[in-house]
Amino acid sequence: MAKKDKPFLTDIKTLRERARNHIEQGAITAGYSADRDTVIKLLNEALATEIVCVLRYKRHYFMASGINAQSVAAEFLQHANEEQMHADQIAARIVQLGGEPNFSPDGLASRSHAEYVEGDSLLDMIKEDLIAERIAIDSYREMITYCGSDDPTTRRMLETILAMEEEHADDLATLLQELSGKS
Ligand SMILES: [Fe+2]
Ligand SMILES: [Fe+2]
Repeated sequence: MAKKDKPFLTDIKTLRERARNHIEQGAITAGYSADRDTVIKLLNEALATEIVCVLRYKRHYFMASGINAQSVAAEFLQHANEEQMHADQIAARIVQLGGEPNFSPDGLASRSHAEYVEGDSLLDMIKEDLIAERIAIDSYREMITYCGSDDPTTRRMLETILAMEEEHADDLATLLQELSGKS
């Protein structure tokens, strides 16, 4: 069939019939072409990563507050809250896809891509956070490529999260520079 003769959309009647036949599948329609189990599995790994990042940033926040580094502590707290927001977005999407978000503390650290490192000094904490952000950036980028045009909603969510992880990495790199400059 020549390109110009190809109908752009499945006809309305077929679309409506499909929607009625599979109503129990919620937001997942017949046109969803991604491998749903794999997407859910990847999202659960991303969820674990975000939870581990929340925990690490919280630890760093309270420890930095203790050593009187208020501006760095404030940055850690802001990141902790933003990672929590990402975790919530990801959990909601997993449910939308018909899966179950895994919040179990059992195996959390091994499901997570990024690590929980406490760090001995302020400089250590910032370095560890920057490493974790760079790991998150790479894994989100891969997940985005995987979703491609098969699951544009998940892809868009991941793109928004990726943009924020890049901001986090940039913030940390700046802090690192400022702190190294002082010593
Ligand atoms: Fe995040
Ligand atoms: Fe982040």
